[in-house]
Amino acid sequence: MNKAFMNTYHELPVTFTRGEGSYLFDTEGRRYLDFTSGIAVNCLGHGHPAFRRAIAAQSAKLLHVSNYYRCDTTETFAEKLVAASGMKNVFLCNSGAEANEGACKIARKYSLKRYGKGRHTIVTLKGGFHGRTITTLAATGQEHFHKNFGPFTEGFRFVAPGDTEALESALDDSVCGVLFEAVQGESGVRPLGADFAGKAAEICAKKDILLMFDEIQCGLGRTGAFFAFESYGVRADVATLAKGLAGGIPVGAVLAGEKASGVFEPGDHGSTFGGNPLAAACGIAVLDTVNDPAFLLEIAEKGAYFAGRLESLRIPCVTEIRGRGLMIAADLSSQARPMLEKLLTRGLLVLSAGEKTLRFLPPYTISREEIDAGLEILAAALRGGA
Ligand SMILES: Cc1ncc(COP(=O)(O)O)c(C=O)c1O
Repeated sequence: MNKAFMNTYHELPVTFTRGEGSYLFDTEGRRYLDFTSGIAVNCLGHGHPAFRRAIAAQSAKLLHVSNYYRCDTTETFAEKLVAASGMKNVFLCNSGAEANEGACKIARKYSLKRYGKGRHTIVTLKGGFHGRTITTLAATGQEHFHKNFGPFTEGFRFVAPGDTEALESALDDSVCGVLFEAVQGESGVRPLGADFAGKAAEICAKKDILLMFDEIQCGLGRTGAFFAFESYGVRADVATLAKGLAGGIPVGAVLAGEKASGVFEPGDHGSTFGGNPLAAACGIAVLDTVNDPAFLLEIAEKGAYFAGRLESLRIPCVTEIRGRGLMIAADLSSQARPMLEKLLTRGLLVLSAGEKTLRFLPPYTISREEIDAGLEILAAALRGGA
């Protein structure tokens, strides 16, 4: 690790200098097949010409203007995002955690204005992950993230995914919103399921609780639909996006449906860089590619191909495979971390999720041949061969 940094990441021993398509290249010119997309960020791969064009054109015109003025590029991005998502309006920010903070503020104000004080609890899921700020850690239902950093923002309550009885008793009169990942990413690609999501939607509608989905990792086409929650037949009052939204330039979004669209008023919320013109230009490039039924179908088909191929390899130490589109996990009978290092030396980048799970989030643009090549490396390494 470079001593100039705080020691916050379990860094792997490689230094990258450039990327091209599904590959990254290190300082020695060695190439690595990228099954991570920078944790679901480089959704169109590395060095996509659409980004080069967007960045060159926008940087020649305007890099930043404060949100007290209008900007044509940012407005186009917002309009495209609202149209692609089927939501009513959007607040733009810089990251996933910031987007979830915005969602929590919307739920609290929505409820306060209608029902008065005391209805500020937000229900989230055990095993969920919503960010690293004090509030989004409070929303994160995994105790090991909480160690050392209390006290947290109050008013969060966790239920186990799938436990509809617990959900029913958790959604009492103190609750203003729920915030769920439609497919939990950090805890190992775990889909919420239509029954649980449907029950949540039913109770939320009945009690006027905002149904909010954190689509930061699973959204934006990754599962083969624009939002992962769509496959459960429910509609969100609020949805958050970030990660791949500008393909590698930081941006986040809080999208509101009809109910939540008028909650924020001038002065309620803000972000200096939110909707920065450079990020917006890259966001337009992403949406123009991803918001296309044929492209989304291709993601779903490549995901099914990936999971099917992985299954067919019958690797002895793989105990379970789960997937939704190009968001796939393989549980191992052994620790995942040493495998990340082993795969790195063989030119394949993968992620872990928990102690014994490998997670694959390849770029949407990956080819079937690249999937085959990566899975061959994976199978050989997991079998302990050359
Ligand atoms: C589901 C989910 N929500 C929120 C976040 C936080 O996003 P960021 O790191 O951009 O703050 C992440 C990051 O991994 C995530 O996977």
